Amino acid sequence: MASEDKLSHEIEKFCHLTYGRGYLASTDGNLSVRLPDGNIMCTPTRCNKGLVRAGEMVVIDARGGKIRGERKASSEIAMHLLIYEMRPDIHAVVHAHPPCGTAYAAAGIPLNKALISEVVLALGCIPLTQYGTPGTPELTDQLRPFIKNYDALLMANHGVVTYGADIEDAFNRMDTVEHFAKISIYTKILGRERLLSPEDVGKLFVQRQKYYGLEGSDAKPKDPMCPLTDGPSETISLTRSELIDLIERVVVNLK
Ligand code: 13P
Repeated sequence: MASEDKLSHEIEKFCHLTYGRGYLASTDGNLSVRLPDGNIMCTPTRCNKGLVRAGEMVVIDARGGKIRGERKASSEIAMHLLIYEMRPDIHAVVHAHPPCGTAYAAAGIPLNKALISEVVLALGCIPLTQYGTPGTPELTDQLRPFIKNYDALLMANHGVVTYGADIEDAFNRMDTVEHFAKISIYTKILGRERLLSPEDVGKLFVQRQKYYGLEGSDAKPKDPMCPLTDGPSETISLTRSELIDLIERVVVNLK
């Protein structure tokens, strides 16, 4: 089992990596891990994640009460605590504001299309949660319905939260979200998206169970709209701007 000292250096390393990848600016974001004794170690509030040091981490109990550390715990710690409470399999949380993923969150568009096999394999789907004021129960109330079934969430008009079995796993999920958001923007520039079929996605969910050792869990997407697939469907989903764009294109073609 990793010692507290080792885990504080792990958080430092992934803070610097997250900042170095441009997923954070200024004092944005917060990272945490679950300690072997069930307490939580997190980044202090209002620290630059590119500069923070292992010795500055704060240890709190599962209800947010401070146990150790010179500084105050992150103001977003309630979000981390809710994730640890609802997901015993999760041991680390990364909250960041990566530019492309956060652009989707600000546009109110989920990353819910079955466009890239590896993203379906890694995350299944990345839903959008509604806006809630940061650091208040409004935010955690919006996240609660999604935490059990997903490992990465877009937070409307705010950012992205990912979580995993350890801090590398949680960071990798953030990396996947941002990479996928970038690819999704490129497909918009190219003007075409070819989604995977429901059959392809079904096979990927079976592979997902094998690859990530999720044996015994349900191999089907939890929500038929997430990820959205190609092929026969009674339902289509468009954002307001996509609908306007579609109507404008039809009107232009009629002229
Ligand atoms: P903290 O500095 O309190 O962790 O908050 C940063 C942040 O990103 C709020 O959304």
